[in-house]
Amino acid sequence: MVKDDHVRAPGRSSPTVRRTSPDRSARTTTSLLPGKGWWRAAVIYQVYVRSFSDSNGDGIGDLAGVRERLPYLKRLGVDGVWLNPFYVSPQHDHGYDIADHCAVDPVYGDLEDFARLVDGCRLLGLKLVVDTVPNHCSSWHPWFQQALAAAPGSHERARFHFADGRGETGELPPNNWRVMFGGPAWTRVVEADGNPGQWYLHMFTTEQPDFNWRNPAIAEEFERILRFWLDRGVDGFRIDVAAGLFKHPLLPDSADPEADERTRDSVNPLAWNQPEVHQVWRAWRAICEEYTARDGRDRLLVGEASVPTPAQQAEYVRPDELHQAFFFHLLHAPWDREHVQRVVDEAVRDIAATGSTVTWVLNNHDQVRTVSRFAGTDPVAGPARAAAAALLMLALPGAAYIYQGEELGLPEVTDLPDELITDPIFHRTGSRTGIRDGCRIPMPWSGGHAPFGFSPDDAPARPWLPQPEHFAAHTAERVLADTGSFWHLYREALQLRRTMPQFGADSIRWLDCGPDVLALTRGDGLVCAVNFGVGPVPAPVDGAPLIASGPCPPGVLPAATAAWWATTTS
Ligand code: NOJ
Ligand code: CA
Repeated sequence: MVKDDHVRAPGRSSPTVRRTSPDRSARTTTSLLPGKGWWRAAVIYQVYVRSFSDSNGDGIGDLAGVRERLPYLKRLGVDGVWLNPFYVSPQHDHGYDIADHCAVDPVYGDLEDFARLVDGCRLLGLKLVVDTVPNHCSSWHPWFQQALAAAPGSHERARFHFADGRGETGELPPNNWRVMFGGPAWTRVVEADGNPGQWYLHMFTTEQPDFNWRNPAIAEEFERILRFWLDRGVDGFRIDVAAGLFKHPLLPDSADPEADERTRDSVNPLAWNQPEVHQVWRAWRAICEEYTARDGRDRLLVGEASVPTPAQQAEYVRPDELHQAFFFHLLHAPWDREHVQRVVDEAVRDIAATGSTVTWVLNNHDQVRTVSRFAGTDPVAGPARAAAAALLMLALPGAAYIYQGEELGLPEVTDLPDELITDPIFHRTGSRTGIRDGCRIPMPWSGGHAPFGFSPDDAPARPWLPQPEHFAAHTAERVLADTGSFWHLYREALQLRRTMPQFGADSIRWLDCGPDVLALTRGDGLVCAVNFGVGPVPAPVDGAPLIASGPCPPGVLPAATAAWWATTTS
């Protein structure tokens, strides 16, 4: 990361746009319908609890650790926090395999700790969003244990997808579906008589049986779970696998099971994105609104709805469904001006047309961190591109999510030895492709050596995943002291989002600044430009930028750099 003081205070200059002409192909890209709700333009910080802050020295992050660090998040300037699952779980998929949805796993604390965290957030004016996982549960969940003990055809089995196998003796799975974590989507059980029997469906690991949402008992149970956490003061839910839940009623074979496994995306149209799922989001939205009607506080539903196109995603954020759905097409975009412009354009057009806003995200606990992802074959380019991408994301209309460590400029850790890898993807596929431990390394807070303040100095246990020595350059302590760091870039950008009236505008207009430069105006008076090329280009606006992702002298936009200018456009 550059060391120069590239962050400039707002309002120093009032430059005018130059050297630009409106992009012929592009236009003012949609205007959002007027709407209200704190979530519409919120910036939410994702806390991967296990790796955020360990208060008791067992090497695993916990809820008390999150509470202690809330002032840090307030200082960064985010509007709220999303916590990854902290519920009772055997941790086959680090909490996405839930055995009790209404209790805190002892490794993360208890309900008292949760209550203290709610109070801490309330005190600082931070919203608190918790994860919910309705597609599947843990094989340790009492309902699944009861299903295993019960007979084929029982109501206990009807809560899941149990089916007889194919072949002469039922030795073949009921269909050919494969899962994005690798391997077949079915596992055969041993019945009470000791013989191999039925199969059950799991779209992730064997330890994550899928619920059968065609059974009304599942919807009832989840409404109870939502109310349990709403009654404890949460401001909303992040919904895991929000395009899942329902499967094609006949469970027919997939046309291309290898592709379903290979792409690591929800592509099997028989297993994902069934029309019935939208009824669930309407029911959940009604519950949120019931709570809002009581106390005036808006609740948020944000879905992880991975579907092939922005237009399909837009269906999830219709006015009576989810408030937000993560827009992963930007996250999946390569460092390429044309590609990025296309996905931004589609998002703003298709999603904003519903009256919702786009929910931008560049990093999360499932993806290679931007610093490494954008590096390609040039590791030096990674940090500069990641910083530029962040500044672009924060200039766009809508909401944004920041994943812990993004503000520290953390790179992906790629050299964990095999025996330390915990991701079930690795254990199911035997391959490192797509494994997620490298973006989940415990946060470096301070000091020059592990545990870098993640655990107390005298902690008896080491962090659950080892932190590399080079994390010393990325501790919160270091980046706070360096005004040229990622941390200050995020903080200044978040402040500008709050204070500049231009951020009230929901429309963007593209400016034509040549093939390598993505440039847009936000409302009337803010220009954001990103140079995707390899050499400097003339800046689209005269004068010093308000903020830039790297050294940015007036009149020039260096390679792999983004900047914002306040302008007068007349
Ligand atoms: C998506 C979550 O983000 C991921 O971490 C998890 O493994 C799967 N859903 C299964 O719950
Ligand atoms: Ca702990």
